[in-house]
Amino acid sequence: MSKWIKISTVTYLTLVPLSAQHARVNPPIDPLHTIEANVPIPKEVVAILQRACLDCHSNSTHWRWYSRLPILSSIVNRDVERARQVLNFSEWSGHAGLKPAIAASTLMASCAVIQAKKMPKRPYPLFHARARLSQEDKNQFCEWSKTEAMKLVEQRRKVEGGAAAITRQ
Ligand code: HEC
Repeated sequence: MSKWIKISTVTYLTLVPLSAQHARVNPPIDPLHTIEANVPIPKEVVAILQRACLDCHSNSTHWRWYSRLPILSSIVNRDVERARQVLNFSEWSGHAGLKPAIAASTLMASCAVIQAKKMPKRPYPLFHARARLSQEDKNQFCEWSKTEAMKLVEQRRKVEGGAAAITRQ
């Protein structure tokens, strides 16, 4: 009996991680589509994104050893998949960055979730000390995101103003 338990445990521990492997993918990144290429962003803020957000919200996920473990692998995979769907900083120009209004609200939402401690999503910061953001980090991020959001809103107003002027003619 115990032989069978051993055999099935070994089979589980080897086969499950193997079957989960192919889900751990990083789609290619087009450097022209990233947030850095489309929104002015100081290197300090890039560093905050890298430390606390990009493992989930980008195509440059650093798949840690534990993401190969059974059970954990499916949790990590699901989080990354959902995170990429709602906000992917590697594919900024194709999603959030498509329209200035969406880009602005995404930037504002990012600041809000950081201040509310909803992001980086738990339990990620428990395992990654670098992802824990200080109040200074949060303020720096929010100062940047609010400034860029305001610029985008202004840009939209100008575009709409221009369109209105054309239709009035
Ligand atoms: C461990 C993975 C992970 C990390 C790290 C992470 N997120 Fe998320 N994020 C998610 C997931 C998953 C969702 C989808 C909603 C949910 O499950 O809470 C999400 C949702 C969001 C949303 C949409 C919020 C909403 O309510 O719709 C924003 C904005 C966001 N994250 C910003 C960030 C920012 C900014 C960082 C870095 C400071 C970050 N996230 C770090 C996983 C993560």
